[in-house]
Amino acid sequence: MSQPLILGIETSCDETAVGIVRGRTLLANVISSSVEEHARFGGVVPEIASRAHLEAMPSVLEQALREARVSIKDIDAFAVTAGPGLIGALLVGVSSASALSIAMDKPIYGVNHLSAHIAVDALNSDHPLKPTIALLVSGGHSSILQVNDIASDVKVLGSTMDDAAGEAFDKIARLLELGFPGGPAIDREAKQGNKSAIDFPRGLTHPSDQGEHAYNFSFSGLKTAVSRYLQQTPLSARADVAASFQEAVVDVLVTKAIAACKETGIDSLVIAGGVAANSRLREMATERTAKAGIDLRIPTMDLCTDNGAMVAALGSIAVSSGRAPSQVGFAASSSAGLNQIIW
Ligand code: KG4
Ligand code: ZN
Repeated sequence: MSQPLILGIETSCDETAVGIVRGRTLLANVISSSVEEHARFGGVVPEIASRAHLEAMPSVLEQALREARVSIKDIDAFAVTAGPGLIGALLVGVSSASALSIAMDKPIYGVNHLSAHIAVDALNSDHPLKPTIALLVSGGHSSILQVNDIASDVKVLGSTMDDAAGEAFDKIARLLELGFPGGPAIDREAKQGNKSAIDFPRGLTHPSDQGEHAYNFSFSGLKTAVSRYLQQTPLSARADVAASFQEAVVDVLVTKAIAACKETGIDSLVIAGGVAANSRLREMATERTAKAGIDLRIPTMDLCTDNGAMVAALGSIAVSSGRAPSQVGFAASSSAGLNQIIW
């Protein structure tokens, strides 16, 4: 099937999202977030997220079908995030998609959330994803990947040894009393500050780290350095701290992603995941990849953070490449790795 109509469901964390694509064309992308219900706890509370998914699912689904101007009967296949993520939250999506698949007698594809973050690039470009390096930076994951085939062959070149990049943004935002989620708040605050004000450490970039840790990340030293700095400096310098912290994170991410492109000889880079919405990351990556002759692709902002379109995009790639659907009754997996892309 060359232009399948795919409905994708995403519920791995705090976004209840449904996306609809036809082939590589985005028709609808509806997102309901429970982020405000978690804000006073300073992080996502799994039980609250699961209940919010249950409550939001019917209306998000209806709205997506309306936006795409299609009927549920027209859908050729359903795709759903099967992992990794919060298990209770994943179960709401997997149960909903399984029920739709059975009721409409159409195939279902359980897909990997991380792979889906990258697959969304297919909706932005008219040429298919060729082998590419991917920098995947979200609230739960930070990795550099060699993507040979987004639906079947993704090799992990390196990952974070401690916090994910988004998690580091969220923790530093808490120290700076900027609220949750921290990424967008630091991004905004940093615009008022001087990114060269404080020379914060760049983890695992020392020449001695270049062997084993060439593509690994560590943000714990940076977090400690920011916390020590704040103990000695009043919060009035917070814009400078935000800007300098952001610069340190972004510098490491971009340096290592470009090094991976150079070492593998792959001159294409996709940056995906929630942190890819960061304005300084987008700016620095654009400058440095242009200098290095690397083709850079970053999804539009609304397709960087969790959404259903990315799940539908990966489902569409799976269908058009002839992958067998998942067996109804498959289990969601909170800790799925990239060795499991389609269930
Ligand atoms: O991919 P995502 O929506 O959910 C996960 O799969 O984790 O990523 C969420 C993460 C959060 O940590 C959030 O603070 C971060 O992405 N984020 C940002 C920005 N927007 C979202 N980080 C830095 N700058 C941003 N503008
Ligand atoms: Zn995500």
